Amino acid sequence: QISLRDQLYEVLASTAQFYQHALRQSLGQKAMKYLQQERKLTTEIIQQFGLGYAPAGWETLHRYLVEDRHYPVHLVEKAGLIKPRKEGNGYYDVFRDRLMIPIRDVQGRVIAFGGRTLTEEQPKYLNSPETELFIKGKTLFALDQAKDGISKLDQAVVVEGYFDVITLHAAGINNAVASLGTALSIEQVRLLLRYSDSKQLILNFDADKAGVNAAERAIGEIATLAYKGEVQLKILNLPNGKDADEYLQTHTVKDYQQLLANAPLWLNWQIEEIIKDRDLKQATDFQIVTKEIVKLLQNIANSDTLNYYISYCAEILSLGDTRLIPLRVENLLTQI
Ligand code: UTP
Ligand code: MN
Ligand code: MN
Ligand code: MN
Ligand code: MN
Repeated sequence: QISLRDQLYEVLASTAQFYQHALRQSLGQKAMKYLQQERKLTTEIIQQFGLGYAPAGWETLHRYLVEDRHYPVHLVEKAGLIKPRKEGNGYYDVFRDRLMIPIRDVQGRVIAFGGRTLTEEQPKYLNSPETELFIKGKTLFALDQAKDGISKLDQAVVVEGYFDVITLHAAGINNAVASLGTALSIEQVRLLLRYSDSKQLILNFDADKAGVNAAERAIGEIATLAYKGEVQLKILNLPNGKDADEYLQTHTVKDYQQLLANAPLWLNWQIEEIIKDRDLKQATDFQIVTKEIVKLLQNIANSDTLNYYISYCAEILSLGDTRLIPLRVENLLTQI
């Protein structure tokens, strides 16, 4: 008697093969062309990530799995691959006419899929529903491929998107994983930190509004760990609102690595976010900024770290007048 979980792994592996095969047939031609020409991916990297194509029909996968491979319908449904039709009988394929990206667990077993449209259709990415095997908040895309790189470099890079990871790995930066568009959870961070002795994590979300918000939310999630120094968290925002994939289309790997190496610690990044778009010479802005900085610094547990940030902020708040620094330090200290 094979367990339900093992049966699900089998159906999903079989599906991944089906999609990979379809990508190499004439019906997958436009998807292959998209990968090679628009996304500039080599056949090696397409193979390495097991990319595929879900054909356009309503029950192509359904027929293949149930009629050809004799998998029970309920199992295919439990795998998140088909859904019952709302009217009449039967089921329809969840993924149709999409570029398919298998999502694997740490051991490399397929547990879900992300499907990208090749047209302007919404949503841009359709992901498997959560199943017995796939829990979004506990999964990191490409961790199976990145874990050795994370150990070796003693550092993990977290990006937003599938193609950010794929492009980074293609460029030889193999310590990158993606959070799958959701805010990074504390469980995902704990999972990652298993592989880095010095607990180094760099968040490189998209530098657009959505990405910065996601970074803020992720920081909120893991702040307790970060304040205790259980994660060495840095934040990288690429220039011009770009994501890692876009950036690497016009820059070298060296450029990217340099930005990684110079990424600010999360507190410095937060301070920067607080003072950005504020005029410290205005009393109201100055008070808001001071208040927010105090809120940020008051949770720092380590007294050396706290002292460092107090003088750092006092310097910023003294607006270039060094005579004011001792006063500002006093002021910040009494508030913290
Ligand atoms: P982005 O909108 O930044 O997409 O979402 P992207 O990865 O840069 O897309 P490309 O480069 O145009 O292909 C980042 C991530 O958020 C999730 C996906 O995991 C995506 O990679 N997402 C985004 C979804 O799950 N659904 C969506 O509709 C959009
Ligand atoms: Mn049928
Ligand atoms: Mn984005
Ligand atoms: Mn993006
Ligand atoms: Mn992108």
